[in-house]
Amino acid sequence: MHLHKFEKIWLVFGMASLALFLLITGFAAFWKGTHPQSHIETIDPQNVEAHEAFKPENLGLQEVADGKYTVNIVASAFNYDFGTDADGKAVKRIRVPKGSTVLFQITTKDVVHGFQVAGTNVNMMVEPGHVSRLETVMKNTGEFTVVCNEYCGVGHHQMFAVVEVYE
Ligand code: CUA
Repeated sequence: MHLHKFEKIWLVFGMASLALFLLITGFAAFWKGTHPQSHIETIDPQNVEAHEAFKPENLGLQEVADGKYTVNIVASAFNYDFGTDADGKAVKRIRVPKGSTVLFQITTKDVVHGFQVAGTNVNMMVEPGHVSRLETVMKNTGEFTVVCNEYCGVGHHQMFAVVEVYE
């Protein structure tokens, strides 16, 4: 079989591109821990409080077992509701020890938002009518900024919080 020079070049280029894309996907999945959020679970976006996890008293950080935490959040334009602290102030920072397993559960009352903990593998789309869940192990200490990475309106840039992982 005779292949023209250009055919050979494109064949090699095509196969090399495919190998590169598979390598990038494999790196993201197995090394960086990127994976889709939870299975489909629906919720009434106008009555999120009816769900056990999103009752006002259950919002924010909870230690469910030794080294295991759950963080419940309700997103809305333009805020992440982590509940309130003892003084009645809105919580904007959560603290967990290094090596702990943290399950983030989040839903939204209005439009599509994002929930990314920059520097970790937590990156979810938050859609009205759905519960997004992702469990991760906090391997590194530091302050990680939570950002909304889906444009949701004029206050989009005001949606942020901090996850602090201490030694
Ligand atoms: Cu919420 Cu952008």
